[in-house]
Order: sequence, then structure tokens, then C-alpha cells
Amino acid sequence: MKDNAEFEAILKTIDINGPATENEPWRQYYFIKKARQYVKAKSEELGRPLFACARTFGCQMNARDSEKLRGILEKIGYEEAPEDVADFVIYNTCTVRENANTRVYGRLGQLKPLKKKNPHMMIGLCGCMMQEPEVVEKLRKSYRFVDIIFGTHNIFKFAELIVQRLESQEMVIDIWKDTDKIVEDLPNERKYFFKSGVNIMFGCNNFCSYCIVPYVRGRERSRDPKAIIREIERLVADGVVEVMLLGQNVNSYGKNLEEPMSFARLLTEIEKIEGLERIRFMTSHPKDLSDELIEVMGNSKKICKHLHLPIQSGSSRILEKMNRRYTKEQYLTLVDKIRKAVPDISLTTDIIVGFPGETEEDFQETLDVVRKVRYDSAFTFIYSKRTGTPAAAMEDQIPEDVVKDRFDRLLREVQAIAAQVCSVHEGCVQTALVEAKSEHDDSMVTGRLSNNLLVHFKGSSELIGQLVDVRLSECKGFYYLGEQV
Ligand code: SAH
Ligand code: SF4
Ligand code: F3S
Repeated sequence: MKDNAEFEAILKTIDINGPATENEPWRQYYFIKKARQYVKAKSEELGRPLFACARTFGCQMNARDSEKLRGILEKIGYEEAPEDVADFVIYNTCTVRENANTRVYGRLGQLKPLKKKNPHMMIGLCGCMMQEPEVVEKLRKSYRFVDIIFGTHNIFKFAELIVQRLESQEMVIDIWKDTDKIVEDLPNERKYFFKSGVNIMFGCNNFCSYCIVPYVRGRERSRDPKAIIREIERLVADGVVEVMLLGQNVNSYGKNLEEPMSFARLLTEIEKIEGLERIRFMTSHPKDLSDELIEVMGNSKKICKHLHLPIQSGSSRILEKMNRRYTKEQYLTLVDKIRKAVPDISLTTDIIVGFPGETEEDFQETLDVVRKVRYDSAFTFIYSKRTGTPAAAMEDQIPEDVVKDRFDRLLREVQAIAAQVCSVHEGCVQTALVEAKSEHDDSMVTGRLSNNLLVHFKGSSELIGQLVDVRLSECKGFYYLGEQV
């Protein structure tokens, strides 16, 4: 995104008394300028600034989208505030598991009385859940107090939809089924000044049989490498030292570009950016992790020593039913190869328990992988039936009590191993990027190591955003206490 002065200079050239151009992103700049008038008038009427709150319910990609929402809200003239005092609340929703949906409805229920007290309040909903027609139908019928509903493909239209709502006095619903469009150069408001997520691709083509993401995020689209590099260069000029490259399956980056390019080559290009210190990425699908990528990781000075490599299940039989397209053995071979090339790498994973048809033997295979790989940490999930996915129609859905029992056993195993694996760095000196003041002790700060572990140590908030060397004095299970050296 352009800097503030540049952006304001562009807005000056836009005439909002005439019609809007069709060209993006200028069309949205037009609506930002238009919405600004409304916000300014309302704020003068109330004699105070207007406040907005954008809340994320989903993954890092959703979080990055929320930064774009915040960027647009800020440019329109809203100041950030908690949702109970906000004049504009937008929820960026997730639908990967049922409980993500439930949370949104719960929160909406709490907003209703707030809006009654404060009729000019605006409520927006966007993100993955809105791509499900049943959800939108339910909102249209039973949640009439919602003002704006849009999906994952047209988030760039946020300013335009706000103006549409302000000018129509009706619920605005705008959902696209899919898109091949990527709109660049929209405003965004970063959470941290020193690190940032960067989308490198959108959507997913994998259709794992349990997963709703391909249905709500559409087909895979890679961003132009030049646009990615340009964005990172701007971020670095703005103080960013660490980037997290984001995609549902970064390992298949670039396959659909006019000039195809591998993820490994993109990383090599990003590595050359001066001033950038650390590179992370998420998520890697095991089936697409290439030897080229392993080599690049082994030689890199900037790629962090951490790989998130979701296994989902340790049973080859279940993996096939999940449509993951690798076996337990292939996964374990891949892990060996990675560890050979990058010996001190930290490995994390995602595991689903209770997929339809999972037997105790299948579950034992999962435990076996956990014991063999010895993950630094693992996100464990109870299988959640998502309407419309192939797995939802499978016979043999597993009873709740059986799943719960397996889940508890898995969690115990994962945690015990993680505590052992985490402690091996005790006594070492490693570089940490200081992210925040410690939550528990005002005289301490919290830094993130290359391997993604956190370390707390004495220090003042001036250190935030800096890379400092820290001795990892004491392992506390999943984090360290340390001292700056
Ligand atoms: N694209 C990423 C994951 C995106 S969703 C990947 O392929 O690794 C994040 C995690 O949610 C998945 O890895 C999976 O473990 C979990 N998940 C997805 N669908 C689920 C479902 N229906 N029930 C339970 N967990 C699910
Ligand atoms: Fe879902 Fe599989 Fe795509 Fe990940 S790779 S988003 S789990 S379909
Ligand atoms: Fe959820 Fe959408 Fe991410 S469904 S996990 S927010 S891609």
C-alpha cells in the first residue's frame, strides 16, 4: 500500500460528485472519499470521533484480511475501539469447524441490544461463513439488524458496500461465488509495525474430503511475484523485519501464473530483499513439498527454522479417505529428508481425530507418527462435519465419547513430547524478535525465536521490534525464561 501522503494526494484527484470509475482500486478510493463525508458529518453531529472494531474469527489469512478492513475503516475516518463502544462492528468469520460458526451467532446476539440503544451503529459480516448460502439465508431472515454482508472474494469492495448501505437504508448483501480477480494496493492497517503477513495466494484446489475451505475460498490463485516483492519492499521500508507468507498451500504457489514460478524460487527472490531479516510461511501441504524447497530452506539465512506440516492422520487408510494424497510412510520419509537438510528445524502439525470410519487401529497409527516425528507442537482438532463436503456424507461417523477419549489421549501424548522437545535448547543463546511487553510482568518483554518458541526476559518496551540475542536459561514447558546477552 502507498504511504499516507501518497494516498491523500490520490484522493485529492478524485471527484466524488461525478460517477465512480470501473477501475480498481481507484473505484474503491472514490468510495473511501465518499464514505469519509458521511463519517465526518456524523462525527460533527455527535461531537466525538466515530469508532470501529474489526474482529477476526479465523486463520492467519482471515487475520490479514481484517487488516485490510481496518485499513479501509481508518481511511474512512473511524478510530479503533472495542466492540462494546464501536459505531461500526465488522466480524470476519470462519467456518472451518462448527464451533467457529456458533461463536459468531453468539456474539451477534450480544450486539443486538447495543444497536437498539445506538441506532446509527452499523454491523457488518464477512469472511468464509458468508460464502455458505444457508448462513446468509438465516441472517436475512432472523438477523435483520445486520447492515452489510459480503464474502471472501469481494472484500476489496468494503468501502463501496458501506456507501451503498448508507445511501439505501437497507441490508446490503453481496456474495460472489468465485473470482479470478486480485485487487492490489488497498489500504491496510498492520497489527505489528515490525512483522506482517503477506498473502502470496488465495483459495485452495485440494478438496481434502473433510474441509470446507475450497468451497468458501474458491479456486487457487497466485499473486504476481512482482506485486509480492513490491509489497514486501514497502513493508521493509516501513520498519518490517519479518514476513509470514500466507496461502492454504504455499507449496503449490505459482502453478497458475502466466509465467509459472515455484514457491522455492519465490523464496529465493524474497531472500534478496535487503533489510528483511526473517521469512516464515504457512501452510505447507506435504504432497507438494519439493526437494527444491528443502534445498532452499537448507541454504537460507532468513527462512526461520520452523515448518508447519499438517499430517491430519497417521493412518494411510484414513489419509486416502481424506483425499490427502500421501501415505504415512511418504510423510515420514519427507520428515527425514527435511531434518537432514535443516537439522535444527522445529516441526509442528495439525491433526484431526474422529474422521468418519477411524478405528482404534487408525488412531494408534496417528499416535505412532506423533511418537516418531516428535513435534514441537501440534494443533489437535475434533472432526467437525461440514455440510457439502464428501466426508459429511460418509457412513460411520464416530460417536462423540469415543472421539473425546481419543482426543484426550492424543493431547496428552503431544504435550508430553512437546515439553521434552522444547527443553533441548536450554542454555543456548538464540536470536529473538521482541514482540511485546510480557503479559505477566511489566519489567519483561516477550520475543519469538526462529523456531517459533517464545522467550520472556527482562527488558523495556524500547526493545519491541528488535532482534536481540537471548540466553535460554530455563524451559517452562512451552516457553523459555531467558536473559539478554
Ligand atoms: N490449508 C491448511 C489448513 C487449513 S484449515 C492445510 O491444508 O494444512 C486448518 C486446519 O483445520 C486443518 O489443517 C485441519 O487440521 C483442520 N480442519 C479442517 N477442516 C476440519 C474439519 N472439518 N474438522 C476438524 N478439523 C478441520
Ligand atoms: Fe482444506 Fe486441504 Fe485445502 Fe488445507 S489443503 S485448505 S485442509 S482442502
Ligand atoms: Fe476459517 Fe476461512 Fe481460514 S474457514 S480457517 S477463516 S480460510
